[in-house]
Amino acid sequence: MDHPTTPGRGPGAVERTSTARRYLMCRPDHFDVTYEINPWMDVNRATDRQRAVDQWEVLYRTYLDWGHTVDLIDPLPGLPDMVYAANGATVVDGIVYSARFRFPERAPEGPAYEQWFAGSGFTTHTAAEVNEGEGDILMVGDVLLGGSGFRTDPAAHAELARVTGREVVTLELVDPRFYHLDTAIAVLDSDPAHPMIAYFPPAFSPASQEVLAGMFPDAVIATEADAEALGLNAVSDGRRVVVAPAAVDLAASLRERGFEPHPVDTTELLKGGGGAKCCTLEIREG
Ligand code: ARG
Repeated sequence: MDHPTTPGRGPGAVERTSTARRYLMCRPDHFDVTYEINPWMDVNRATDRQRAVDQWEVLYRTYLDWGHTVDLIDPLPGLPDMVYAANGATVVDGIVYSARFRFPERAPEGPAYEQWFAGSGFTTHTAAEVNEGEGDILMVGDVLLGGSGFRTDPAAHAELARVTGREVVTLELVDPRFYHLDTAIAVLDSDPAHPMIAYFPPAFSPASQEVLAGMFPDAVIATEADAEALGLNAVSDGRRVVVAPAAVDLAASLRERGFEPHPVDTTELLKGGGGAKCCTLEIREG
């Protein structure tokens, strides 16, 4: 594929274009770590809810400053992980596929998000299979990537393919630190003409690494340090990319490829095992 290169940037850089996005977020008013369902969570480590809210506010304002639309869902008491809105559903072409959580602690979040969508005029499909929304489902170009191994059942990928009529490529996660697909892959450009991702290959089984290398030969390969900072839990609007400040190698690679990295500190939310992307559910109206 031939792309126009951006003068002054590294080889392979294309002119990146931001497109208007619609996101759904949930203010972490009830944020806490009261159970442990991933290796990042430690109930014995103190959390600072105000700090979580302040960091979340910076993320929220960043999207608004960039001209994106951000809807808010009311946080519910007793659901400390509800701030991780990405897990709440998958929305593709205006079709809402509900989440069905692996662990009982988060189970009520599925219906809460589904109700929000139903109340906002969307037709929703209630999932029969276990899936954690966009935490494990990423759209790149015309294709959906589906993570499995820790949370989402591969049967949900088939269900999602039926509901959306789109291809879902199953990828197997193998490192418990990267238990959701959006901790191991960042979608940088979802334009079908020049899709681009960043990912950390060792988070995937050898077979899935081969699939990714075949699909995305030009992908940014993240370092372990990037991945450990949850740097891949990034949000791109096609040009501007919210990224964890500690993911310095990733930020450099993004610049080389013509993206604009914008560090936003979400370290308090990292105590629950999530970063910027986890807090951001994209509503693709189609
Ligand atoms: N504590 C949450 C869990 O383990 C964190 C979810 C992070 N969200 C994400 N999209 N990766 O389920």
